[in-house]
Amino acid sequence: MNFFNKDDVLNAFHYRASTRSYDGDKKIPAEDFQYILELGRLSPSSVGSEPWRFLVLQNADLREKLKPYCWGIPTMETASHIVAILAKKNARYDSAYFDTVIARRGLTGEAKEKALAVYQKFQEQDIAILDSERSLFDWASKQTYIALANMMTGAALIGVDSCPIEGFDYKEVNRILVEADLFDPAEWGVSVMCTFGYRNKDIRPKSRQDLADIVQFVE
Ligand SMILES: Cc1cc2nc3c(=O)[nH]c(=O)nc-3n(C[C@H](O)[C@H](O)[C@H](O)COP(=O)(O)O)c2cc1C
Repeated sequence: MNFFNKDDVLNAFHYRASTRSYDGDKKIPAEDFQYILELGRLSPSSVGSEPWRFLVLQNADLREKLKPYCWGIPTMETASHIVAILAKKNARYDSAYFDTVIARRGLTGEAKEKALAVYQKFQEQDIAILDSERSLFDWASKQTYIALANMMTGAALIGVDSCPIEGFDYKEVNRILVEADLFDPAEWGVSVMCTFGYRNKDIRPKSRQDLADIVQFVE
């Protein structure tokens, strides 16, 4: 099935640019922002783990508190929407969280046990992420970046600008959000943030490596 023609999609990819200056008077309509969130929700994730939560930070006081620790967000006041994406901690194959993953897939009884054995081998040996809590958290964080990309690309397709953000003090940002009672730090941590809005000036066209320098066909 063809939803778009290639030129439209490529144009949107060329147009999307990390936006560091928004028109503070232009807000994304609620319906459009709902669509962007839906793209995050529909994103794929390893073993269907969906190890994410999306905190939409619209509170001006909270944004003010975060500002000193978010050097990568020059648009703390002007971004229409700011999303902090949380990644699940300790999403082990034998956790209560994984039970919910399995249940979502409709697996019970023998099928559930079989799936869990596969996930155990996967996490323990194949991708080897059970050595440290950090490895497991980073694995969950990887999944959140897929949602991040889909949200930004889908936003660009409807003319909404964005900027992915890793430029902040993770410790302090986590602290402030936990103090605001937004999540339990034993369960969740901030993976990445993203601002959304409408650019108020032109952005320099992208520079990228040539395809020939980054792709190798192995035949
Ligand atoms: C995961 C990630 C984190 C980023 N963090 C920041 C950031 O904190 N502040 C910022 O201004 N840009 C940030 N960027 C934007 C990159 O600098 C930008 O994507 C890159 O220079 C390519 O430019 P383009 O997005 O306009 O094509 C980030 C990008 C990614 C993918």
